[in-house]
Amino acid sequence: SSNLAPLAANKVKITLRPEAERNQPIKNEDLVFGKYFTNHMLTINWDDKQGWHTPEIKPYGNLSLDPSTCVFHYAFELFEGLKAYKSLKNSEDVIMFRPDKNMARMNKSADRICLPTFESEELIKLIQELIKLDKDLIPQGKGYSLYIRPTMIGTSEGLGVHTPDKAMIYVICSPVGPYYKTGFKAVSLEATDYATRAWPGGVGDKKLGANYAPCIKPQLEAAKRGYQQNLWLFGPNKYITEVGTMNVFFAFKNSETGKKELVTAPLDGTILEGVTRDSVLTLCRDNLDPAEWEVNERYLSIDEVKERADKGELIEAFGSGTAAVVSPIKNIGYLGQDINVPLQEGKQSGKLTEDVMNWIADIQYGVVQKENWTKI
Ligand code: COI
Repeated sequence: SSNLAPLAANKVKITLRPEAERNQPIKNEDLVFGKYFTNHMLTINWDDKQGWHTPEIKPYGNLSLDPSTCVFHYAFELFEGLKAYKSLKNSEDVIMFRPDKNMARMNKSADRICLPTFESEELIKLIQELIKLDKDLIPQGKGYSLYIRPTMIGTSEGLGVHTPDKAMIYVICSPVGPYYKTGFKAVSLEATDYATRAWPGGVGDKKLGANYAPCIKPQLEAAKRGYQQNLWLFGPNKYITEVGTMNVFFAFKNSETGKKELVTAPLDGTILEGVTRDSVLTLCRDNLDPAEWEVNERYLSIDEVKERADKGELIEAFGSGTAAVVSPIKNIGYLGQDINVPLQEGKQSGKLTEDVMNWIADIQYGVVQKENWTKI
């Protein structure tokens, strides 16, 4: 209700970690995705009497919660992932990429599991304060960034299943390099139809932690057969939905007309509304010649991919997400055979995949400006 306190960035209380206890920067080549964290974190409590409490920036450290807390039992948890980049033009500038999109999605996720919504602009300001404090730990150079993990949990105590009367936002930050240990390398997928990531009327379009845990076992199954990630299919038509934890794109060239098409699944409630997905679509629609390319959000079945690969019409495939940005695909195991995706001679991706990666990186690293996509 309207007498609850809104989230207010200007009230933030800052407690610094003592100099002697601070982490020092990790060398770029030693970074492992999500393993190291900065010196400070942001926490903000909420309750249904008062609303949002005073935001606190304090030394990174453990949370203390009663074992009956609802997050541990009924999965009242959601998260976001976004990145901040050291500008290649001016290393004093730290550039956040499309944080408004992450905040909007975070509020949608919160609303879906009866956690409180918040003022997006205020959380962005608080994250800016947080990353400014630990600026020296943001790695520099193409491929390197600060991965920011805003999280919200229900903190009500007790085992009753109901709307949480208490909640907490916390934000932690991890200096990162390339997402996969293998670096920028094309991945192999297993088309997965025996397990389903998301379904109509479900929550696959929300960034809930509960969507992720059930996807690991199928990944292990795929790994046993020599594949790195799952290509998630849905329904009797075996529509392609996502890959691993990412959205997925396929490119074709029609052998009769010569026209090319870039395709990704439509946002029908089963697809995570990826910020990178949206960025890929926007940049391709802006930059590709419409006489040569069509960019479509439409249903695409694995059988269409197979048939068109057999005809030589499949030209590229890649995953898109904040962590890996774009992740080229080299083959897909389906019905006991591999569908092979062509790569450029001596390279780990197709030409469009490479262009898309560079278009996005140029904006993220401040080489090219795109209005409203970056926040310094
Ligand atoms: C992404 O950014 O692609 C992800 O969703 C990965 C994250 C869960 C580590």
